[in-house]
Amino acid sequence: MSNVVTALEPNAKQELVEGLTQAVAETAIETLKAQNYHWNVEGMGFGPLHDLFQKMYEDHFVAQDDLAERIKALDAHAEGRYADFLRRSAVEECEGKIDAKAMIKNLQEDQETLSATLTALAAVADKHGDVVTNDLAIERAQIHDKFAWMLRSHLRG
Ligand SMILES: [Fe+2]
Repeated sequence: MSNVVTALEPNAKQELVEGLTQAVAETAIETLKAQNYHWNVEGMGFGPLHDLFQKMYEDHFVAQDDLAERIKALDAHAEGRYADFLRRSAVEECEGKIDAKAMIKNLQEDQETLSATLTALAAVADKHGDVVTNDLAIERAQIHDKFAWMLRSHLRG
């Protein structure tokens, strides 16, 4: 009996795998960046920011695994080298020696980028009837929107 995965046309599968691969890449770059800021953040907001950045990298670490394993469920190769991630990612690495405000702003913009990537992936998955990838991508977009809001709120007032 065929299911969503086995019924996918090769070009549909390729489009899904490319979207997932970009999502893994950006999530992986953001994981390391949030952890680096968790280490280096300084100032009066140290405690809450140290904790928020930890929440982010812990969430992202699990998410990159979920996204990569969806690639495997689609019977494709999951990339796992930072060199490949950096080539694909719209989220860029950033100098770690920046102040807390610049860290927050940088992560906020990244979260918005990630949300856009995952929203685009959700639309591709919807177009091809891949409800599982669609569900995963929507859930991830929701979480990135939430982190973007939390970061944005730190920059106000
Ligand atoms: Fe830590």
